[in-house]
Amino acid sequence: MKKIKVGIIGAGFAGKFHYECLKRIYGIEVEISGVTSLRKESRESFGKQYGVAVFEDAESLIKNVDVIDICSPPYVHSETIIMAAKMGKGIICEKPLTGYFGAENASKIDHGDEDDKQRMLDSVCITLNQIATAVKKNKVFFGYAENFVYTPSVQKEREIIEKTNAQILRMVGDESHNGSASAVYGIWRYAGGGSLIGKGVHPLGAMLYLKRIEGINRNGKPIRPKTVTARTHQITRLPNYEDKGFIRTDYHDVEDYGFIHVTFEDGTVADVLTSEIVLGGLYDYVEVFANNHRTRCNISPIDIVDTYNPRNQQFEDIYVVEKCSTKEGWSNAAPDENITVGYQYEMQDFMNCISTGAIPQSGIELAIDTTATTYAAYLSDQLKGKETNVPLIG
Ligand SMILES: NC(=O)c1ccc[n+]([C@@H]2O[C@H](COP(=O)([O-])OP(=O)(O)OC[C@H]3O[C@@H](n4cnc5c(N)ncnc54)[C@H](O)[C@@H]3O)[C@@H](O)[C@H]2O)c1
Repeated sequence: MKKIKVGIIGAGFAGKFHYECLKRIYGIEVEISGVTSLRKESRESFGKQYGVAVFEDAESLIKNVDVIDICSPPYVHSETIIMAAKMGKGIICEKPLTGYFGAENASKIDHGDEDDKQRMLDSVCITLNQIATAVKKNKVFFGYAENFVYTPSVQKEREIIEKTNAQILRMVGDESHNGSASAVYGIWRYAGGGSLIGKGVHPLGAMLYLKRIEGINRNGKPIRPKTVTARTHQITRLPNYEDKGFIRTDYHDVEDYGFIHVTFEDGTVADVLTSEIVLGGLYDYVEVFANNHRTRCNISPIDIVDTYNPRNQQFEDIYVVEKCSTKEGWSNAAPDENITVGYQYEMQDFMNCISTGAIPQSGIELAIDTTATTYAAYLSDQLKGKETNVPLIG
């Protein structure tokens, strides 16, 4: 079997856990052949820390690899995907697939929250079509790095749906935590929005995935989203918000709370909740109410380890769980977050599919539907919650 040469774009938080997971692939020879990022210091320090060759820009890195692993901020995803596809290279892309970042370039938008959302949705649809065409025409691998799909709990639910011929009637999912590791999170022109696009895409992606699975299982074709009703709010920017210093508040022009009600082609529904306003680490789950069973997929926290620590300093060198502001008292410690939140299984599936030509669990169609649904939600929100059609692309 041929060795797979992977290049990582983006040397930050996501670049690091992608690297760790790529190093633990089994059954396939994988080489991490290079890294690049916008800032010289960050790519050089990543290269030095992991012993990986450093490239000055995306194009030179892509030329030297079989697969490009995109871990850069959302505003550069689409151009990198299209470039790699045209060069005939496989693509892995972090969420969100893409978004709206300004009319012509990032400097053109400063109040994304107030901008015309119909124009944003139209522009995103053009970009989604360009991505779909580039990937299809050049017949390249595309893995959408939506880790919720690969969590052990969501994969267990997939098995239950498939083996029991279940019909999902309604779902509820949430991803909430306090901000992001990225310096450009909270700025529309780089992130493409706030909680909905930064966090809500995770439970939304998992729920769209499960309906796809149900449809393929029962009727041979996926059940896709049809309409959305949505609201967003900027709660930490309310004039009467009392800042006690625990919750991040520096969101430039994006929402810190969002809600999407999705109706599917078959009339069933899913509700997405998402927010920056939560203390105590990640609050991530997907709950499925089916005609023959009910499953709560706990994603984070999960109860594998409960540990009590009377004094913070004792756990100074011990990783407990993402985004929990204290290690004092009881914690739901994550023994290996790359496994529990799905990153490891995601990368294994991508490498298996690249080596065999199979289609990944989380691929281009899921990425496109998730993005189109999210921008239809931004339009619905601007129309004060009016039911809005989700454009079906591809
Ligand atoms: N699946 C998950 O759970 C998860 C978690 C965190 C981040 N992410 C996603 O990963 C991506 C990166 O987020 P992060 O938290 O790692 O951000 P980060 O700020 O920690 O890292 C971003 C990296 O990209 C580089 N970069 C910035 N602009 C670039 C450009 N124009 N070209 C090339 N490199 C560029 C930066 O120098 C930095 O090295 C985002 O799309 C984010 O949504 C996903």
